[in-house]
Amino acid sequence: MVYPFYISGRSVTLNFSDWLDAHAKQVDWPAVTDRWMIMMQQYNPVLDEQIRTVIATLQQETSGPCRILDLGCGPGTLARQILTADERFTVVNLDVNPFWLEVCKRNLADFGKRAQLLAASFRDADWPNQVPGPFQAVVSLTTLHSLATESYQALLNQILHILEPGSLFLNADRLIVPKFEPEEPDPDTFTGDTWQGYYTWLKDTWELTDIFDAAQKQGDIFDGSPTGYDGDTNLHLLTEAGFINQNMYWYRDGRAVFGGKKPT
Ligand SMILES: C[S@@+](CC[C@H](N)C(=O)[O-])C[C@H]1O[C@@H](n2cnc3c(N)ncnc32)[C@H](O)[C@@H]1O
Repeated sequence: MVYPFYISGRSVTLNFSDWLDAHAKQVDWPAVTDRWMIMMQQYNPVLDEQIRTVIATLQQETSGPCRILDLGCGPGTLARQILTADERFTVVNLDVNPFWLEVCKRNLADFGKRAQLLAASFRDADWPNQVPGPFQAVVSLTTLHSLATESYQALLNQILHILEPGSLFLNADRLIVPKFEPEEPDPDTFTGDTWQGYYTWLKDTWELTDIFDAAQKQGDIFDGSPTGYDGDTNLHLLTEAGFINQNMYWYRDGRAVFGGKKPT
């Protein structure tokens, strides 16, 4: 699979199949996901409840066949549970990083055509033209908090554009709440990887540095926002973009599920 990357204004084509040919057999694919999940759950002890809220809200707010787009799918954390929960759901998994799409593909293989993959950056002006919309829902997990306000606002406008009228955007993410802000875990109780430790293990073990550097230069979500937004700001940005029925569906310990609907 060839993924185009555009770095520093010049077009660079990174051939991911070369990396796969060289490394796919040695990679401990289950460990890639297992260590990721342990890390995610240690940073976010309420992750399972957060994901359950996304699924329950999708089930309540949609009916009939429902195509869902997951922005920044990573290893398919959200899609796996969404697809398991309800046969009505199909998920298009979008990520800028071909390695994560490969992990996602492997993790969702059991779901056949109900799980699709899309290599794109949601920071590209024309990504909505690359996805086969419209969608009955757009979701995202632990990804969009790193976007600076302008980029987040632009993305919300694009999400509104690809949603079917009356349908739902749900963001399960961190919130800025001072008490729950420590990004570095307590070393006395933390037994999994830190974010940095995980990526160091991943990149060094399977020579992924070039792939991750290229993906980051292409996607680069870390463009100014330190750790996300507070609840009011999140709801305000949704209003500004034209969403209605904005809602904080769930909140606990600095994590939330919030979203809104496209007007009919
Ligand atoms: C913190 S991870 C979360 C992954 C997954 N949602 C989960 O919770 O396990 C953020 C994901 O967003 C992806 N990403 C970053 N910038 C992106 C962009 N501009 N377009 C698409 N995906 C992007 C990364 O490659 C990564 O998989």
